[in-house]
Amino acid sequence: MVILLMGPPGAGKGTQAVSMVKKFGIPQISTGDMFRAAIGQGTELGKKAKACIDAGQLVPDEITIGIVKERLAQDDCKKGFLLDGFPRTTEQAEALETILKEIGQELTCALNIAVPKELLVERAVGRRVCRKCGASFHVEFNPSKAEGVCDECGGELYQRADDTRETMENRLSVYEASTQPLIDFYEAKGKCVAVDGDQAIDKVFADIVKALEA
Ligand code: AP5
Ligand code: MG
Ligand code: ZN
Repeated sequence: MVILLMGPPGAGKGTQAVSMVKKFGIPQISTGDMFRAAIGQGTELGKKAKACIDAGQLVPDEITIGIVKERLAQDDCKKGFLLDGFPRTTEQAEALETILKEIGQELTCALNIAVPKELLVERAVGRRVCRKCGASFHVEFNPSKAEGVCDECGGELYQRADDTRETMENRLSVYEASTQPLIDFYEAKGKCVAVDGDQAIDKVFADIVKALEA
């Protein structure tokens, strides 16, 4: 099972990924999480990615494709995986086709979590993320049981550096220009399924499960 989780910044990709990993037993591969881990560790990759992410711009394709290719070659991806936030450009989508051929896997479905644009900024600025396991919460829409503490693992919650109103404007423009066209790319292959992301979190998940079982 190879699933792509698509949708604009703040759509709920990471939130749904947590439940999907539990239900389907495949790993979540989030390029955003991989970059943030590298930034936290101060690696070369982290240094290269930080300026792009903080500005709300995409990390160059060459770098992004390289880390995904390396990650998908690992053993835990042999039975499938869930890509969260990759591909985001036509070049990345074409590279993914090549990688899938190389590892002998086939795309099951590209899930597009659709959310009206005007809701996305509020979702991002109120988001809190676990430093330890990466789970996402929202101060208003999905609060953790104890303030500042992750429900999943007890880790500390923090606010992402790119979750400001200003940076979100850039991220949304970049999404519209570079990533939204990929929906047509996967629709043309008959692989795209849209899910209404403007519903309660568990309703969105129920729709995802329905779509994947269909
Ligand atoms: P990345 O980390 O992937 O960020 P993103 O795509 O902007 O998406 P988000 O993580 O912001 O949103 P999400 O859809 O996961 O939403 P979440 O579930 O957290 O990428 C960050 C940066 O890294 C990029 O800008 C770029 O620079 C770089 N990068 C990453 N991948 C790249 C690539 N392939 N190529 C080049 N560069 C790349 O939910 C958001 C909030 O809403 C949470 O607070 C949550 O609790 C709440 N929420 C979720 N669902 C609901 C609901 N149904 N109702 C109400 N609230 C909800
Ligand atoms: Mg995310
Ligand atoms: Zn956690």
